[in-house]
Amino acid sequence: MASSTQNKGTILVTGGGGYVGGQIIREALASGFHVRVTARSASSAARSIARFPSHADRLLTAVIPDMTVLESYADAFADGAVTGIVHAASPFVLAPEDNVRDLLEPAVKGATAVLEAALRYGGGKVKRVVATSSFAAVVDLTKGKRPGYTYDEKDWNPMTWDEAARADGVTAYCASKALAERAMWDWVGAHAGQVSFGLATICPPWVFGPYADELRSTTRGLSESVKLLDGIIDSDAVPGFDFGGYADVREVAAAHVRALEVPAAAGRRFLVGQDFRYQAAVDIARETVPALKDRLPVGRPGEWEDAYRIDGSLATRVLGLKYGTLRDAVTDTYVQLLKAREIEAEATTAAGGR
Ligand SMILES: NC(=O)c1ccc[n+]([C@@H]2O[C@H](COP(=O)([O-])OP(=O)(O)OC[C@H]3O[C@@H](n4cnc5c(N)ncnc54)[C@H](OP(=O)(O)O)[C@@H]3O)[C@@H](O)[C@H]2O)c1
Repeated sequence: MASSTQNKGTILVTGGGGYVGGQIIREALASGFHVRVTARSASSAARSIARFPSHADRLLTAVIPDMTVLESYADAFADGAVTGIVHAASPFVLAPEDNVRDLLEPAVKGATAVLEAALRYGGGKVKRVVATSSFAAVVDLTKGKRPGYTYDEKDWNPMTWDEAARADGVTAYCASKALAERAMWDWVGAHAGQVSFGLATICPPWVFGPYADELRSTTRGLSESVKLLDGIIDSDAVPGFDFGGYADVREVAAAHVRALEVPAAAGRRFLVGQDFRYQAAVDIARETVPALKDRLPVGRPGEWEDAYRIDGSLATRVLGLKYGTLRDAVTDTYVQLLKAREIEAEATTAAGGR
């Protein structure tokens, strides 16, 4: 991992044990930040740190058993070191048992609790809060594929809490992201003049690309988006259109870290992503990952269904973000997944032989 010798101060990262959070930590460390990772338990905090063995001296943890409870953040700010926050933690489940309990409440209350904590415990030192929102907070699901339309930062998923409470899981997840992001902007608006920090939000569509650390021995607990690509292996059909966009997890991480530093990022949301179709991903992987040539459905090679477009150019103009290619995102995801499956299979064989 490329590393900076600079010390840009300490940032608090929630959700650092996750897929996107891990890449944010990697990027922040590489760019010169010290990182305090929050986790729900001491054991998961230890796991988060263990992902970055060469940076142990610049990684700290804070155990926050319930991110919706303001008081649980006190220790994380106690030494007065935190100057920035990345709030990436949010329930990412697409088949919740209870929409309100499993998605809406933790997402929305967690989002405002972290802002409240920065105000109450931050000692006026926190300068920027960057939240991981989503294209789910941007897209209007009721409009469908919407050919000819281009989504950008002006757009909002209009779903209400009550609608989300009785919706299907995917719709409720999307609403949880929209309601959480709105709650953050509303909170910042209501506390103007009291806070030392500006808010920026990053809104990626499906995120693909590799985990920051190797998946090592397991593909269990994959983020929903990586699970989607994993699920195409040995399946019969190329998935149909759902969300027409993707972002490479490495550019999502870079966007977060740039948004911590770029003065003009304060007060803005950034749609970070490019157009996407599953068929394009499959076409690429069948060509770039030989081991998958006969394990991915063929579908209709070259077909690109007409639908809305995604304009992620504000992130380039304001944050200086450079987008990579779908080819790299898809190839690197599958190469890592295949490696993990191989290690898993070897472990199963070894266990069977004992
Ligand atoms: N992957 C995508 O396609 C995508 C796209 C757009 C936006 N996002 C957003 O990116 C963020 C990270 O997602 P991911 O893809 O990295 O998924 P992930 O690997 O499942 O990570 C989710 C993270 O959020 C934490 N979390 C979930 N519910 C929590 C709760 N109730 N209290 C405290 N922490 C909680 C998890 O903590 P534990 O480790 O303790 O479980 C984990 O660290 C989320 O905000 C998600 O909405 C993801």
